[in-house]
Amino acid sequence: MKFFIDTADIDEIREAYSVGVVDGVTTNPSLIAQTGRPFDAVLHDICEIVDGPISAEAVSERAADLIAEGRDLEAIHRNIVVKLPLTLDGLKACKALTNDDIKTNVTLCFSANQALLAAKAGATYVSPFVGRLDDIGHIGMELISQCVTIFANYPDLHTQVLVASVRNPTHVTEAAMVGAHVATIPFKVIQQLVRHPLTDSGIQKFLSDWTKVPA
Ligand code: E4P
Repeated sequence: MKFFIDTADIDEIREAYSVGVVDGVTTNPSLIAQTGRPFDAVLHDICEIVDGPISAEAVSERAADLIAEGRDLEAIHRNIVVKLPLTLDGLKACKALTNDDIKTNVTLCFSANQALLAAKAGATYVSPFVGRLDDIGHIGMELISQCVTIFANYPDLHTQVLVASVRNPTHVTEAAMVGAHVATIPFKVIQQLVRHPLTDSGIQKFLSDWTKVPA
């Protein structure tokens, strides 16, 4: 399973990417707003750091405007993936941009049928939101499982399931267990993936015992 980092914070991206386990980046308008910087400037910085897919969201509502925005975003860098909303206009834009060989990530997916539509429109990725479904009392991971199964049933669908709205390490484990292609993970959760109290106490014990080894 590929790991993307779900942030627009340049320091977080630089730190996580330097470890060597991050394959790409996803941003959204809320994450960009948190940086307090212009969208283009943030995207340029991310493209300098990461050599992998970088999702940048188009924010228009009408298909024609989404297509124009998508083309402008794609022109910034070859690694840009145009993020589009899961609406009829978003699907139309996805089809048009796919026909132009522009990579797309259809976002705000909350049902298997929506994911199927994104795949039929030729999306490179579809992003089902696990955490936001959990928040309203659903089991978000069931949607991931449905999407993975449906796409496997139809080998002519090449869309990758990108698990979004990841809130904790269990989401990551479960996404990998059901065979999701990608999980986009906040920096805090990436840090949580690394840590284990038995690793920490084990290191302390080894270091302490090492001082008792005769020179
Ligand atoms: C990713 O592409 C999404 O925008 C993101 O994962 C949403 O996460 P949230 O539900 O925690 O805002």
